[in-house]
Amino acid sequence: RTLKRQMMCRRDIDSLSVPFLSIYESLIPPEEEKLKQKQLLGLLEKLVCKEWPMARLYLYGSCANSFGVSKSDIDVCLAIQEADMDKSKIIMKLADILQSDNLQNVQALTRARVPIVKLMDPVTGISCDICINNLLAVVNTKLLRDYANIDARLRQLAFIIKHWAKSRGVNETYHGTLSSYAYVLMCIHFLQQRRPAILPCLQGMEPTYSVTVDNVDCAFFDKVEKLGHFGRHNKETIAHLVWGFFYYWAYCHDYANSVISVRTGSTISKRDKDWTRRVGNDRHLICIEDPFEISHDLGRVVDKHSIKVLREEFERAADIMQYDPNPCVKLFEPY
Ligand code: CTP
Ligand code: MG
Repeated sequence: RTLKRQMMCRRDIDSLSVPFLSIYESLIPPEEEKLKQKQLLGLLEKLVCKEWPMARLYLYGSCANSFGVSKSDIDVCLAIQEADMDKSKIIMKLADILQSDNLQNVQALTRARVPIVKLMDPVTGISCDICINNLLAVVNTKLLRDYANIDARLRQLAFIIKHWAKSRGVNETYHGTLSSYAYVLMCIHFLQQRRPAILPCLQGMEPTYSVTVDNVDCAFFDKVEKLGHFGRHNKETIAHLVWGFFYYWAYCHDYANSVISVRTGSTISKRDKDWTRRVGNDRHLICIEDPFEISHDLGRVVDKHSIKVLREEFERAADIMQYDPNPCVKLFEPY
């Protein structure tokens, strides 16, 4: 591979921001969809509390981290302390409770890697997955949402990257490509690296929010409204950042030696994490550290074949952004 680090961005790049922003806007969920999600959550809370008055329901994932596009399913976490019941029993009971009301297709998936109840609400048409006590996901959802509130360009970039990944078939963990969560972390990392930086490192600052979940200390600065407009000294447009993002993953990231780490606001070495060799199914071919479960590499799903697919897709996208007269069409062409 030739490193083209010196390559400059095309001269008309900024004029491409208009079409990119209209794609972004077309993906934003309308207010009424958000209302319907709240409505469904309210109904679920009522049903759950009848049986378990101490239990709580939390939204997590794209419906709550502000990176959700229109017509997404919602992810819900049931927080419950039932010492004498294992997760699959709780799942069965939860399915029972919800079945009795007018919800549709209530299914208990007790054997999945993460056991869930799946259902559809015929009134709002919204589908929903409910998991049990996955509170780290609730906390990482808050971290992502707080980052999104610092600079509008993060949400714009992440929507465009998620849309690209879905169009190109590289947002499928069961086929060895990356989750939406991983792509959003890649966007945050990228904006932390710009000079001047567009995003700070919230976990590197004096914590104003701190919880311990499953023995993991989660602490970060969450008073983001106090940061003023952190990224104001960086004037890069969204089109420039889309180009830069693909260029970074195509030609600048050191896949052999580096781990991207939103937690530290930087990259760290694979050797320091002992992620240099394959252990079981974890190959560490692209390394993305989870901000709280720091032994988790979100790139662990990527294998020998899919790393090639991913890197070729990054290169294709970088080249389109560099040379194509109409990149907004070509970039999102179905694969
Ligand atoms: N999550 C996690 N660890 C992972 C994958 C996901 O903690 N390895 C949690 C995160 O809280 C994430 C949520 O599960 O926000 C949902 O993950 P995912 O489906 O990848 O992201 P969404 O934001 O829901 O994206 P999409 O719009 O594609 O559903
Ligand atoms: Mg989701």
